[in-house]
Amino acid sequence: MSLKKVVILFSGEGSNLENLIATLHQKTFGTTTIEVVAAITNKPTAKGIEKANKYGVDSIILDHTEFDSREAFDTKLVETIQNLEVELTVMAGFMRILTPIFTNNIQAINIHPSLLPLFKGASALERSFESDMQVAGVSVHEVITEVDGGKIIAQKCFDKSEMDFATFKAKIHQTEHEIFPEAVIKVLQTI
Ligand code: GAR
Repeated sequence: MSLKKVVILFSGEGSNLENLIATLHQKTFGTTTIEVVAAITNKPTAKGIEKANKYGVDSIILDHTEFDSREAFDTKLVETIQNLEVELTVMAGFMRILTPIFTNNIQAINIHPSLLPLFKGASALERSFESDMQVAGVSVHEVITEVDGGKIIAQKCFDKSEMDFATFKAKIHQTEHEIFPEAVIKVLQTI
């Protein structure tokens, strides 16, 4: 039996954060028990703070506006994560472009609301919806310096051809909630 510690990074609503904690925290999968030791946000007003709190998971707030540069923020973020001694960092709606200070030091995975390598970067959900494609989906990938460029760990798609935007957005979130916990377990079992 092995205990694997994770930290979850988020910036906003926190629906993935909540789903990950509810599905994984203090649960055992095969021989792996998962502990979500903390959540970290760059936004003091993020709704996810309360969601994590409900499950007894503390949030650490690192307000990016209080740092002089991207590098200064990433240095503090790396130090904070390293002090938690986690096996894996999980980015669930963490809206920051990361420097090599982060990507060279932290093993992390991220969820992105598109079928990568399509629609990398900001407004992926809107761009995916507006495209001529008949399918859309979500991806979990390794975090590297290139935004949304790391190796794909999990993906799921659906037919979007008949959907309005509200239905599409709900389907994206539902699909994220289906694949993200499984992807975290899969990665942790290889660490
Ligand atoms: C999710 O849809 C996630 O894929 C997206 O932010 C949303 C967060 O929602 N992430 C990105 O766009 C990263 N580039 P949540 O706070 O309700 O989990």
